[in-house]
Amino acid sequence: MAGPAIPERLVWTIDQLDVRPTDRLLEIGCGRGIAVSLICDRLTTGSITAIDRSPVAIKAAQARNRDHIAAGRAAFHALALADTNFAKSGFDKIFAVNVNVFWTDGTRALAAVRNMLAPPGVLHLVYQPPTARQLTTLTGKLAPALARSGFSVDEPLVVEGGTPLLCISGRIPMTAPDRRQT
Ligand SMILES: C[S@@+](CC[C@H](N)C(=O)[O-])C[C@H]1O[C@@H](n2cnc3c(N)ncnc32)[C@H](O)[C@@H]1O
Repeated sequence: MAGPAIPERLVWTIDQLDVRPTDRLLEIGCGRGIAVSLICDRLTTGSITAIDRSPVAIKAAQARNRDHIAAGRAAFHALALADTNFAKSGFDKIFAVNVNVFWTDGTRALAAVRNMLAPPGVLHLVYQPPTARQLTTLTGKLAPALARSGFSVDEPLVVEGGTPLLCISGRIPMTAPDRRQT
């Protein structure tokens, strides 16, 4: 018997991530770990770490991804973003789907993410709000917040429809070479 359908927002999110087999990814607010299980199927030597502040969600995500954890492709932590202590520049791609902290406490959250991304790393923030009007509000908050935090911001991607989808992506620029004479 077929299992429950994969939510459209997660399939779309994974399309935006352009997962490479060697990527090191972090998902913030992974819920039950559905996106992680889809991403692991695309990894070879890469890996994904996922956090959620809800221990109940992490337990469900671990149960869903038992084989990927055993293979060393996935790791889960019951942690809020503000409590993480991952290595500087430890990830190539970071993403979050329907996680509010980026507009409720954007400055702190984006500084933490920037520290964890290795240049030219990318952060993808995906939202599926109930109305199209909220897309505009979210874009108006998130795009300037990303720019203020040192990200180069892509043109927002929108899929309109009954429940619209928004992806805002910010990239860490490669550091310009130091041309000063010594
Ligand atoms: C609306 S759910 C979305 C779950 C999943 N991303 C999805 O789209 O199915 C938001 C999730 O983010 C988690 N969350 C919210 N704020 C968080 C934070 N600051 N750090 C880590 N997880 C957080 C919540 O516990 C919840 O599981």
